[in-house]
Order: sequence, then structure tokens, then C-alpha cells
Amino acid sequence: MKLSLRVLTVLLPALLMIGASHADETPPTPQEKAFTFRTSLFQTFSWKFGQMVGAMKQKDEAAFSKHQSDLVYLSSMIEEGFQIKDSIPEGSDAKPEIWQDYDGFKEKAAAMTRLTKDLTMADFDPRAYGSKTCGSCHRDFRVKRD
Ligand code: HEC
Repeated sequence: MKLSLRVLTVLLPALLMIGASHADETPPTPQEKAFTFRTSLFQTFSWKFGQMVGAMKQKDEAAFSKHQSDLVYLSSMIEEGFQIKDSIPEGSDAKPEIWQDYDGFKEKAAAMTRLTKDLTMADFDPRAYGSKTCGSCHRDFRVKRD
């Protein structure tokens, strides 16, 4: 039950976007669908990260650990968004290095899962955490936007 609700949280924005694109002449390509999925996933990461910061400020351990475990779970889906080799549709900031060094990319995803799992609210430093997890992958694998 809990699981399917979480899956829905991630999939719903993706499904809505697919629905919206029906108005267009051409249906989205598999690459575009994967891009929509991963974009929704990463936006959900940002939301959860924000919720964790909020919970820390409120000193709400229960809320913190809920959002933390959601983020651990969500981080296990990163790879799913990059299954199609060299899928960099228009608007994507994915770097070709993702597929040139797929093991390295997977390791960054695994590191995020690990570090997020090991967090405690008392030790949570959003800047350090963001740099070691999100930033560490973005620096190597995401095109920097000015
Ligand atoms: C294993 C690598 C990896 C990790 C870990 C990672 N990201 Fe990303 N992120 C990416 C890549 C690659 C893209 C670009 C995807 C694309 O545009 O096709 C991206 C894009 C994004 C975007 C842009 C979404 C949009 O609207 O275009 C946001 C926001 C984001 N990430 C937030 C986060 C946050 C927050 C974390 C940490 C809690 C995080 N990411 C962790 C690889 C990662």
C-alpha cells in the first residue's frame, strides 16, 4: 500500500505530462518518456530534500526519518531513467559521460542511497549532504547551466 502510493507520487507528474503531450502531433519518443520520468524523479528529490531541511528546523525526528527513507527509496530509481543509451533529448542536461562511464554513474547513485540511509537528523548538514550526494553526481554527469 505504502509502496504503491510512493510509486504513484513519482509517476503521476510523468503521466500528467504524457497526457498533456497528446495535444501534440507526435507522441513522445521512448527517450523523451525516460527524460520526463527522470526529471520528475529529480524534482521529487528536491522536494524531499526540502522537507528534510524543514523537519530538521522543526526538530521533528519522525518527519525527518519519513522523508529520509522516502529519499533512500527514490534514489534506487535513478538508473531506471538512464536505461536507453545516449538518450539526451532536447532540453536534457544529461552528459554523454553517463553512458561512457556507466559504472561510475551507478556508483554515484549508490553513494547517494548509502549516504542518505546513514543520515541522522542531529548530523544533517544540508550543504555538505547536497554536495556529497547531488553535487557529486551533477559535477560529473550533468551539464552546468549558467
Ligand atoms: C547519480 C547521479 C545523480 C544524483 C545522485 C543526483 N542527480 Fe540530480 N540530476 C542528474 C542528472 C544526470 C540530471 C540531468 C537529467 C537530464 O536533464 O536528462 C539531473 C537533474 C536534476 C534536476 C533538474 C530537473 C529538471 O527539472 O530539469 C534537479 C532539480 C536535480 N537533479 C536535483 C537533485 C537533487 C536534489 C539530488 C540529491 C538529493 C540529485 N539531483 C541527485 C544526476 C543526479
